[in-house]
Amino acid sequence: MDKLVIKGKTPLKGEVTINGAKNAAVAILPAALLIDGITTIENLPNISDVKLLCEIIENLGAKITWISNNAITIDSRNISCTQAPIELTRKFRASYYLIGALLGRCGEVQVGMPGGCKLGARPIDQHIKGFEALGAKVEVGQGIIKATREKLIGTNIYMDIVSVGATINIMLASVLAEGTTIIDNPAKEPHIVDVANFLNALGADVRGAGTDVIKINGVQKLEGNITYSVVPDQIEAGTFMLAAVASHGDIIIRNCITKHLECITAKILEIGAHAEELDGDTIHVWCNKRPTKANIKTLPYPGFPTDLQPQMGVVLSMANGTSIINESIWESRFQYTDELNKMGAKITSQGKTAIFEGVSTLYGAPVSATDLRAGAALIIAGICADGITEIHNLEHIDRGYENIEEKFRKLGANITRVKEDDPNNHLVDLPE
Ligand code: EPU
Repeated sequence: MDKLVIKGKTPLKGEVTINGAKNAAVAILPAALLIDGITTIENLPNISDVKLLCEIIENLGAKITWISNNAITIDSRNISCTQAPIELTRKFRASYYLIGALLGRCGEVQVGMPGGCKLGARPIDQHIKGFEALGAKVEVGQGIIKATREKLIGTNIYMDIVSVGATINIMLASVLAEGTTIIDNPAKEPHIVDVANFLNALGADVRGAGTDVIKINGVQKLEGNITYSVVPDQIEAGTFMLAAVASHGDIIIRNCITKHLECITAKILEIGAHAEELDGDTIHVWCNKRPTKANIKTLPYPGFPTDLQPQMGVVLSMANGTSIINESIWESRFQYTDELNKMGAKITSQGKTAIFEGVSTLYGAPVSATDLRAGAALIIAGICADGITEIHNLEHIDRGYENIEEKFRKLGANITRVKEDDPNNHLVDLPE
């Protein structure tokens, strides 16, 4: 096991390039199983969730070839199995996209109950409601989900809850269905639009992704032989934006879509820091004074994203004044506040609300990443803190950020990954 060791109080300076979006990539790879052919996926983040998904897809009979660090081909001509390896699919959330894709392509599928970050209850009733409305039979039992169909027939599906996963899964299942499917009240995140664009590049007819109604006209067949580039990661870009603000730094973020970052930019300006679009895919963020307090409520896109709530929490933990964050998506996404309090923050949380009494300085301490975005938040805290921070449980962070410590190091952070049991990992020996 590795840990990160950070010597803090570094204002980040320089340039960083954003990778493709994790939450788009983990849907696009299963979507590639809808065709009987070969697709090339570029700008693919090289992260453990993607590697795990590649392993699962290979188990189903597809052939994956890495053609560079961030590009693969998927040859899905020989899907020989529709039972995904149970233990592997339980390890993360996005394995549920195999249900939509394989229902469409093969008519039957079995996966383990999806795992993922522990953020409270994560039901999949809206996915099941969608599959059943299309005519599938879904059985859930003993930690396994099994879905079968004679045929899928397009219909109107109203989402009771705005769900990223259910919206994508219903799109995957319905592109090859007979007739038209209408999804009312879908999620509108950039990765929803990206998955729709990928499906349309394969020959699907998906309209309205990113709006309040998605209309899918079923087609008989999808074609391969396309090359598709994954959309830049809104959350990775936002993580670096908030790291620039928290550390009183000055950084330029490249390969992002600035339109997707408006919900973050608005809050950055509100607290007295600066964000300026340089062109459609570059943003400059800097902060030269202690940010002021702000209140945040996480919401589905285009609201403030829950996946940036912990990183924003670090900023507000050091802001001037008392801030309130209301987490409206997940039941339990304030576990990181206990870790921040070990670093001198003054945060009290109850249920879906946390109160941040801003302190002027955080102090280095040993802390643990409780989930992916909590881990990113703790790295930012460590970079800002006085003294040395050790972050444990890095497997959460590696699920979703490619080369995160290398990127922060290039921005000037004093951050090193060491083996937990390395006798030479004396904290005082960190390079200046
Ligand atoms: N929900 C239901 N029933 C369902 C589906 C969702 O009640 O059938 C509820 C959830 O419990 C939650 C809300 O609806 O309260 C939203 O859940 P959603 O389905 O949108 O979340 P998800 O698809 O499981 C994705 C991301 C998460 C991100 C959320 C919200 C992936 C693989 N995961 O999860 O990303 O927080 O959307 O934007 O795309 C992360 O990247 O760190 C992460 C947790």
